[in-house]
Amino acid sequence: MTLAEALREASTRLLKAGIDDPRLEAEVLLRHALGVERQELFARLQEPFGLKSQASYEALIDRRLAHEPTAHIIGHKEFFGLDFACSPAALIPRPETELLVETAIEQFRERGSVLAIDVGTGSGAIAVSLAKHLPQARVAAIDISAAALALARRNGLAHCVASRIEFVRGSLLEPLSGRFDLIAANLPYIPSRTYNALLPEIREHEPEVALRAGRRGTAINEVMLAQAVDHLAPGGLLLAEHAWNQGRRLREAAAGHFPTAGIETRRDLAGLERLLVVRA
Ligand SMILES: C[S@@+](CC[C@H](N)C(=O)[O-])C[C@H]1O[C@@H](n2cnc3c(N)ncnc32)[C@H](O)[C@@H]1O
Repeated sequence: MTLAEALREASTRLLKAGIDDPRLEAEVLLRHALGVERQELFARLQEPFGLKSQASYEALIDRRLAHEPTAHIIGHKEFFGLDFACSPAALIPRPETELLVETAIEQFRERGSVLAIDVGTGSGAIAVSLAKHLPQARVAAIDISAAALALARRNGLAHCVASRIEFVRGSLLEPLSGRFDLIAANLPYIPSRTYNALLPEIREHEPEVALRAGRRGTAINEVMLAQAVDHLAPGGLLLAEHAWNQGRRLREAAAGHFPTAGIETRRDLAGLERLLVVRA
């Protein structure tokens, strides 16, 4: 069997199991099995597949067919152009969260110094991306989960920005004192009833504490907004990612706590309301 034939066969198995993007997933796992980059794989597609590599590829495909996320199988995922280690300890970084990072960088690129918070840091995707793209920034990365924080620290070290990130265990903004130029939050926002209907890739493999947020899904962000009143500096920016149908409720909550602030919602690439923006 050639590599091309193995790839076709694996794509068909993933397709039949209802896995999204079966061709791409089969290719990513094949590259992982062979330890090669994309270009090298394409150059070698007509080569025969060695029996040992074939067995390890099949084992990876079997894990994917059992609904384990690809990022857990291969151990990493790209976010904002950076490679992040992933594990069941934290949420796998999602492309929609890039909107938050992009908005923060746009706002603070020209500023001499930036004191930032990433609350609910998970893998550290936001904190590390901000520290990498804003070399003048210092970031407090908070999470309630010790395992997530350990992964975030690992990612900070891998990208050589850990010295500008303080990793803090605690609930929301409670562990901090003082005021910050930026509060960035991608906290849990899945309502309980939606949580039970999530794909097995998510429900069975990513931490519940990273996803579930009460009956409406806005509870955790609403508490964070109330706490932010004591931590957002004058002229500061608060960014909070949320679900497509939570924009109005969070704008109202923000207006209650920040009556003189500029408040808006940014939409993601799919045109859905995604990011609460509060300019104090
Ligand atoms: C949706 S995940 C986001 C992870 C990461 N920021 C990202 O964008 O990929 C939410 C994170 O918030 C953390 N979390 C949940 N409740 C929290 C709380 N009360 N205080 C601090 N962190 C919390 C979870 O452990 C999880 O890591």
